[in-house]
Amino acid sequence: MVSRVIRFGVIGCGLMGKEFASAAARWCHLSDVDFEPRIVAVCDANPDATEWFRERVPTVERTYSNYKELLADPAVEAVYCAVPHHLHAQIYVDIINTGKHLLGEKPFGIDQEANGLIQQAIRENPSVIVRCSSEFPFFPGAQQIIQWVRENRFGKIIEVEAGFWHSSDLDPVKPINWKRRAATNGEYGCMGDLGMHVLHLPLRFGWKPANVRALLSKVVNQRPDGKGGMAPCETWDNAILACEVETEVQSFPMVLSTKRIAPGHANTWFIKIQGTEFSAEYSTKNPKQVASLPYRQGQPQAWHIADVPYKSAYDTLTGGIFEFGFSDSILQMWAAFCDEISHAGQMRQPFGCATPEEAAGSHLVFTAALESQRTGDTVEVNWRD
Ligand SMILES: NC(=O)c1ccc[n+]([C@@H]2O[C@H](COP(=O)([O-])OP(=O)(O)OC[C@H]3O[C@@H](n4cnc5c(N)ncnc54)[C@H](O)[C@@H]3O)[C@@H](O)[C@H]2O)c1
Repeated sequence: MVSRVIRFGVIGCGLMGKEFASAAARWCHLSDVDFEPRIVAVCDANPDATEWFRERVPTVERTYSNYKELLADPAVEAVYCAVPHHLHAQIYVDIINTGKHLLGEKPFGIDQEANGLIQQAIRENPSVIVRCSSEFPFFPGAQQIIQWVRENRFGKIIEVEAGFWHSSDLDPVKPINWKRRAATNGEYGCMGDLGMHVLHLPLRFGWKPANVRALLSKVVNQRPDGKGGMAPCETWDNAILACEVETEVQSFPMVLSTKRIAPGHANTWFIKIQGTEFSAEYSTKNPKQVASLPYRQGQPQAWHIADVPYKSAYDTLTGGIFEFGFSDSILQMWAAFCDEISHAGQMRQPFGCATPEEAAGSHLVFTAALESQRTGDTVEVNWRD
């Protein structure tokens, strides 16, 4: 039933560029969509990376080493850009100014100034669809939580906690890479790497932090440089942000954490919401399970743990009793982005990819967190400008 082919270029053919290729290759997994991405051109500064695409992705017609050549390619109508953070501003701005739709990787600029340049290009090109990559809300358990928030189940919110935790950096001999260097990853460190994933749902729910108290830590101070020596690790490993959220109707505490060094955690993304009428928790640690606690006065306060069925935003051929995983969430995110390009304003389901406004909100929070770490103060998040 495919009726709309979206011709994509990929800039940055590393880990995430390849994840997109894999999602596009299993598009037949989606059972009821009338749009399809086709990767026709790829670009990477490293020829081995483009070679991977040439060998494995039969739809690729052209490979480039300079992204400006890919942007001049008239066959490319949309771009996925997954490059180190210091390149986001320049490349995203050029993509948007060329009039090609963009799914850009987080954090959408190495810092707030870089993010501002991207936001300006978006304002100047209103017909271009720009979204920020964030796949975890597409896990069925997260979709269940989203539905409960939409249904206003929670009553007065008591407290929210959300986080994204890794552990591979616990290994002190893991070699340094661009994600541990300030010049390429940015001063945000783990917040820039992991924070958009954590803030996506709170911001979608309208839970904007009014202020932040930050505890940022560096755990491993140097790593092998791959040339027989050691190199300093310049970026924050872990961040705990204690925030006060102020909505139109109430305020409540929200704790956000992004950790590269959380022993035992491999890609654990979670959200926990406590309310006076209902509480709920979901973590990719136990990807099938969603916990909920409906509160009735005088009744026992019992958590219900249920296996959430494979019920994704976009229907797939996988049966409801099977498990959902990381690559499924990537596929669902891509379906949402392609849906938006094909049916702007009339998507097949209501949950869209993270927006540039949400990415900008994450920069406000991270920037305030850096100031809080520097000063030891509680820092207001400036949502007005
Ligand atoms: N959504 C997620 O779950 C997720 C996971 C990991 C990384 N990311 C994000 O994806 C982006 C890329 O991360 P990655 O892990 O794929 O990194 P990576 O290092 O695996 O890949 C980056 C690629 O960009 C290429 N590159 C560098 N300079 C370039 C240039 N000037 N032109 C073209 N290509 C260039 C590199 O050669 C490399 O192949 C980052 O923004 C990162 O935060 C997102």
